[in-house]
Amino acid sequence: MKNALVTGGSRGIGLGIAKELGASGYRVAIMATRPEECCPQATEALRDAGVEYIWLAGDLGRSEDRARVVSQAVEQLGEIHVLVNNAGVMSPVRCDLMDMTEENYDYVMNINTKGTMFMTQLVARQMMRQPLCGRKRGTIVNIASCNSRVASIKRGEYCVSKAGVSMLTELYADRLAPEQIYVYEIRPGIIKTDMNLKVRDFYTQKIEEGLFPIARWGLPEDVGRAVRALCSDDFCYSTGTYIDVDGGFHIRRL
Ligand SMILES: NC(=O)c1ccc[n+]([C@@H]2O[C@H](COP(=O)([O-])OP(=O)(O)OC[C@H]3O[C@@H](n4cnc5c(N)ncnc54)[C@H](OP(=O)(O)O)[C@@H]3O)[C@@H](O)[C@H]2O)c1
Repeated sequence: MKNALVTGGSRGIGLGIAKELGASGYRVAIMATRPEECCPQATEALRDAGVEYIWLAGDLGRSEDRARVVSQAVEQLGEIHVLVNNAGVMSPVRCDLMDMTEENYDYVMNINTKGTMFMTQLVARQMMRQPLCGRKRGTIVNIASCNSRVASIKRGEYCVSKAGVSMLTELYADRLAPEQIYVYEIRPGIIKTDMNLKVRDFYTQKIEEGLFPIARWGLPEDVGRAVRALCSDDFCYSTGTYIDVDGGFHIRRL
């Protein structure tokens, strides 16, 4: 059986990914800040979907938590075949770039970018010790954002953090290809989750006005299905590449 570690699997996109991977036969280790007993909706959804999972609470922004979560995953599952770097936070305040604080910049960068950098390092070291499984030794999928490229000046920290994640995709893809560990990235557009609860009406209106060609909110399972495809053995001559899961938002239109 293959095992996947999904950070931020307690809700939103991460839960959608955990459900999709679980449905295709993976045992899933879920990392979230909140312990399992605080997330009854998630556990119900996972059980309803028949997903075999373990729950590992920890803060991606803390070195000791990252190390503990990875060692617990290995202890309990044996091997890690897939890492999905999904956990992330939005800028705490949407404000003019001129008013961004160093505190908020550090907060977002520490979780989204530094957390992804060092979580990947830990899991990649583990994958390198493992035998081949199918046509590769492991798959790493980074959940970046359309904001890896799209500038949103009211949440600059977030944009910088996701541009950093995109560079991590390329760096790790280059470093890990000789180990037969392949690294991919998904750039979601606007996906209906808690992250955009406060701006739900604003985006609904924009979508109705034609913000992008596929005129609906993206759903966590849209991302989950794309992750599942990348984790299969079907993309073994590709690494360091990304897929936009954004309803066509990335297309420049006139
Ligand atoms: N929603 C979108 O439109 C959108 C678009 C592009 C990219 N993304 C990216 O997709 C990813 C998931 O977003 P989402 O919309 O699903 O967000 P969400 O609904 O806010 O869920 C965030 C998840 O990350 C976990 N998390 C947050 N901080 C963490 C930390 N320090 N350590 C461990 N886990 C942490 C949360 O755990 P708890 O439940 O314990 O808090 C939760 O499981 C993020 O990287 C986000 O930037 C989202």
